[in-house]
Amino acid sequence: MDRQKIQIFDTTLRDGEQVPGCKLNTKEKVDVAKRLEALGVDVIEAGFPISSPGDFESVAAIAAVVKEATVCGLSRAVEKDIITAADSLTGAKRPRIHTGIGTSESHIKYKLQTTPEKIVERAVAAVKLAKSFVEDVEFYAEDAGRTDNAFLAYVCEQAVKAGATVLNIPDTTGYCLPEEYGAKIKYLKENVKGVHNVALSTHCHNDLGMATANSIAGVVNGATQIECTINGIGERAGNTALEEVVMVLRQHPDLLKYTGVDTKQLNDLSRYVSDTMRVPVQPNKAIVGANAFAHSSGIHQDGVIKKRETYEIIDPKDVGVDHSSIVLTARSGRAALAYRMKNIGHELTRDELDVFYAGFLKVADEKKEVKDEDLHQLVESTVKVAV
Ligand code: KIV
Ligand code: ZN
Repeated sequence: MDRQKIQIFDTTLRDGEQVPGCKLNTKEKVDVAKRLEALGVDVIEAGFPISSPGDFESVAAIAAVVKEATVCGLSRAVEKDIITAADSLTGAKRPRIHTGIGTSESHIKYKLQTTPEKIVERAVAAVKLAKSFVEDVEFYAEDAGRTDNAFLAYVCEQAVKAGATVLNIPDTTGYCLPEEYGAKIKYLKENVKGVHNVALSTHCHNDLGMATANSIAGVVNGATQIECTINGIGERAGNTALEEVVMVLRQHPDLLKYTGVDTKQLNDLSRYVSDTMRVPVQPNKAIVGANAFAHSSGIHQDGVIKKRETYEIIDPKDVGVDHSSIVLTARSGRAALAYRMKNIGHELTRDELDVFYAGFLKVADEKKEVKDEDLHQLVESTVKVAV
């Protein structure tokens, strides 16, 4: 069976930029967009043009330079939002307007204080207006994760009839379980007339730590686009992490899906985004965390030194990391010490290693991590004692 390409829709510059305190200027946003294009993402959500003159300017500047990827601007189902998004995208080679409205009971009753009928009317009017400016219109049903499936299918069907080319099914509050989210996508695939002519998109938030699992459940059940951000940054607990979904699909060829992302650029881009947006990456973050390829317990180190695959399912080079690291701590064993000693030019015999290991443990108990310079010092002091 042929593998299916999954479109990667990056929203680092829109949903990602909603992280408090990480506002970028236009030049920084253009730089990030160029790197995302080089990474091979299919769609770049460049911003929310009505939100501020600066955001409008950034979307227009990105639209002018990005040539391969689709450039997308967000809007609410509000006339002035859609017209402003269209204006900001006039220079884009492949423009997309992303428009939509809340569809869950709580959004309809409390946030929008309206009725389900009015929601459908506004959704249809928004898609039609967007369609009068651009061919490619993505409709989002905000809080789809908590929306009744039958009503969601109805709204989506009307959006398709009005001209939507992509249906975005956001789990806005990160509430869904993977099976539940997957079943929602399957239900829409089976119950929305015209769905086979449009793309279904996942957009999962990470409030319960399930954004990646939910996005994968979505594509397993028929979604063909994943919305995500570099390092998973975004509103509250963040969005689906781009590097995670891309690597899940790569490491599981059994799913028969692939993306156009050049995975070797993931580590560099993660650092670049973290530095530019001033949002640190947690050390244990999957794929791009500082410890993602670091081994510190003796048992693991021994296994990795004998054969890397014992404790690593990803070759670090595949995501742009030079090599796995063996971190020396008081939990490390002789194998790790001998390995690191050899790397710094000291091949030890079994007896020498026994003597040296005792000294090493003393240093390791004093320090969190024993570095190469500590080993060099230990060599000097051991030689002096021997003389
Ligand atoms: O989480 C969400 O529902 C969104 C939409 C605006 C697409 O970000
Ligand atoms: Zn979102």
